[in-house]
Amino acid sequence: MSDVNIQKESITIKKKVREHYASAIVKKNTPSSGGCCSESSNHSCCNKSTQLYDDPTVFELPAEVTDISFGCGDPVTLASLQPGQTVLDLGSGGGIDCFLAAKKVGPEGHVIGVDMTPEMIERARENKTRLKADNVEFRLGEIEHLPIADQSIDVVISNCVINLSVDKQQVLNEVYRVLKPGGKLAVSDIVTQGSLPEILMEDLTAWAGCISGALDINEYVSIIEKAGFIKVEVRPVYFDDDMVKEAEKSLDKKKFAGLSRETIKKMIFSAKITAFKPAS
Ligand SMILES: C[S@@+](CC[C@H](N)C(=O)[O-])C[C@H]1O[C@@H](n2cnc3c(N)ncnc32)[C@H](O)[C@@H]1O
Repeated sequence: MSDVNIQKESITIKKKVREHYASAIVKKNTPSSGGCCSESSNHSCCNKSTQLYDDPTVFELPAEVTDISFGCGDPVTLASLQPGQTVLDLGSGGGIDCFLAAKKVGPEGHVIGVDMTPEMIERARENKTRLKADNVEFRLGEIEHLPIADQSIDVVISNCVINLSVDKQQVLNEVYRVLKPGGKLAVSDIVTQGSLPEILMEDLTAWAGCISGALDINEYVSIIEKAGFIKVEVRPVYFDDDMVKEAEKSLDKKKFAGLSRETIKKMIFSAKITAFKPAS
């Protein structure tokens, strides 16, 4: 494919992802549909949002925050945040992980959420006001071009977002740029083991639902290392039968033709990923 065509495809996918999440957030005045991982979402691969969290403080958050969560894990617990740290959340959505992180870093710390969907940023800012979360801010922007100063962040977190990017290497390069030396990356994301059937890869809706864009885990690790990170660790979290059934239903069973449920489970899963920028 020529560079121009790659660029065109990238703009098309980004537009589709933005429209998908703009419409999901508008629909989500009540718990419902439309994200990567939400209660009865299209392409659901995950549990009810609060069940994804190891941190019980998630239950202290109001429904206005937890009901608009589209994640696939708990990057805040993975990050082991400390008071006073500055944290960046890539693709912060309605802000759930920013508000959890804000409690961990306390009033001396600071949390920045970046998201490219204006409707998400608007809802996250309403939640910030609702929660009086003075140490949190939300910035409209793309994770491939972060609106963040060089070496200004202690920890970068992200929940089910990097798989949606058409240029994952650029995202990791940006994360490396903004982290302070010794800084940490803690990500929950959908990944694959091996490649997905061609028919799924061509499905833009499946991309927006966090499936087609998911990278093979070895490739994911290799782009993290290529950006300069060290001590990359990955822990898989496999989906249960009900979640796989749900994904088959919403994506049209034909697209998983010939694959057993066990194969699908091993083929696409959520991963806990951590890595560090070298200290010097
Ligand atoms: C699956 S949702 C996850 C939201 C949030 N992390 C959560 O756990 O609820 C994906 C979010 O990433 C945002 N997003 C997707 N691609 C992006 C990009 N390239 N740059 C910035 N934000 C992006 C979407 O607008 C959406 O809010």
